[in-house]
Amino acid sequence: MDYHLLKQAVEHIKEQWPEANPQYGAILGSGWNGAISSFKIKNKISYENIPGMEKPGVKGHAGQLIWAECCGLEALLFQGRRHYYEGIGWTPIALPIFVCQQMNVSTVVLTNAAGGLADGLRPGSFMLIEDHINWMGHNPLMGPHDPVWGPRFPDQTQVYDSNLKKLTNQAATIIGEKLHHGIYLATSGPMYETPAEIRTFLTMGADAVGMSTVPEAILAHAAGIRVLGISCIANKAAGLGGGNLSHEEVLEITQRAVPRMQKLFLQLWHEFAVQKKKR
Ligand code: HPA
Repeated sequence: MDYHLLKQAVEHIKEQWPEANPQYGAILGSGWNGAISSFKIKNKISYENIPGMEKPGVKGHAGQLIWAECCGLEALLFQGRRHYYEGIGWTPIALPIFVCQQMNVSTVVLTNAAGGLADGLRPGSFMLIEDHINWMGHNPLMGPHDPVWGPRFPDQTQVYDSNLKKLTNQAATIIGEKLHHGIYLATSGPMYETPAEIRTFLTMGADAVGMSTVPEAILAHAAGIRVLGISCIANKAAGLGGGNLSHEEVLEITQRAVPRMQKLFLQLWHEFAVQKKKR
């Protein structure tokens, strides 16, 4: 990880937005760009202008950092994510989390598109990530230790914050959205899985599979940020009856879910605001 670039990124953002005081953050993965349509945008910076970030190489990932407000709460919204399979190392993947940590963000919402393994997970449904399996064969915390990520051997007993899960359940109930719960397994990608791999992952206890989110969840949790993870199931995982898989199909299905994503985000921010007032 290039800490020099990470620090430059923070300096650049703080210079551009000296008044920013965000407490909430989000990474909007495949198809989730429109989830924040109800937010009031204060300003934007293209990823190309953030040192160390650069433009996402994947279709469906917008590539801009948005400073926004919703329900009276300021947020940093990373519209589009960088992936390990892009072959870019960990710096651009860690950058949103590092920026959030350095700007005192206390809660981060990680979103993605995923393949469904569990029976009830039909394309278009939302799954709250209860826990994850890191099957990437890699880990962003490997290498020289930096205290920004807490102790050398971070506990992983509860990566996804239980209070945030409760608030998300509440938000989903209020808007009439059925929220599934499950275990997200991350591969390194960029290939979709073989049916044999999916059968193996089922025996391992995975409910959904994707190529992201886990590194960011590991980093955010290690950095002391509360983590919430939500998947939009884009397809039945390989070999489970949905035919061949393609990124176009993933984008099409997640695109259709945008109005529901938007409602969920708005209600979630409302729940955040209510909870903040109670504190
Ligand atoms: N596998 C891995 N990643 C994915 C999938 C999948 O089936 N669908 C969307 N992202």
